[in-house]
Amino acid sequence: MAVTTIIGISGSLRRGSYNSALLRAAAELAPEEVKIEIASIRGIPLYDGDVEEADGVPAPVTELKDRIAAAGGLLLVTPEYNASVPGVLKNAIDWMSRPAKDIPRVFGDKPVGLMGATPGPGGTRLSQTAWLPVFRLLNMRPYFARLVFLHGAAAAFDADGRLIDDKLRDLVTRYMAGLAEFIG
Ligand code: FNR
Repeated sequence: MAVTTIIGISGSLRRGSYNSALLRAAAELAPEEVKIEIASIRGIPLYDGDVEEADGVPAPVTELKDRIAAAGGLLLVTPEYNASVPGVLKNAIDWMSRPAKDIPRVFGDKPVGLMGATPGPGGTRLSQTAWLPVFRLLNMRPYFARLVFLHGAAAAFDADGRLIDDKLRDLVTRYMAGLAEFIG
């Protein structure tokens, strides 16, 4: 059976991150023909045009760009900060969109899944919506058929960060099956 690789990125650096825990659950619950490679944005510096001009794109950015370019799809698991996207993840995407001539190779027509978790009631709806213009600009191919807005995250995971809510496990399983089919 052909294996599809999806690069999974959590938009939180926090050790106890609900979004990183959700990404691990997505990897666990993905169909067997899908391999989720969890990548980290830790180590990506703040975008600085002077650094880019002097030294080019930093090595961790180039490495992640190449991994995304080689993969069948991308899965972003995003927190919501102040009703929008988290800066650390936006910064990573911004760096990876440089130089702009690389955008078609890295992001162009790339299937992208999106999910998010919050201890609050909104389920990261505003953050996920705020990502859409970014995907459009990068000419990505978002998977829209299913949605994972994980609210009340404190009750959904156990102390080890395992997703314990059966309905959510089922939802994530169906999302990953749908995303795999969408990637084809
Ligand atoms: C938040 N949080 C938050 N939650 C939410 O549902 N909507 C929001 O607008 C915000 N805004 C916000 C701003 C800032 C600066 C912080 C630090 C936090 C709460 C957020 O969802 C919570 O901290 C999550 O636990 C972050 O995700 P991880 O780290 O658990 O993956």
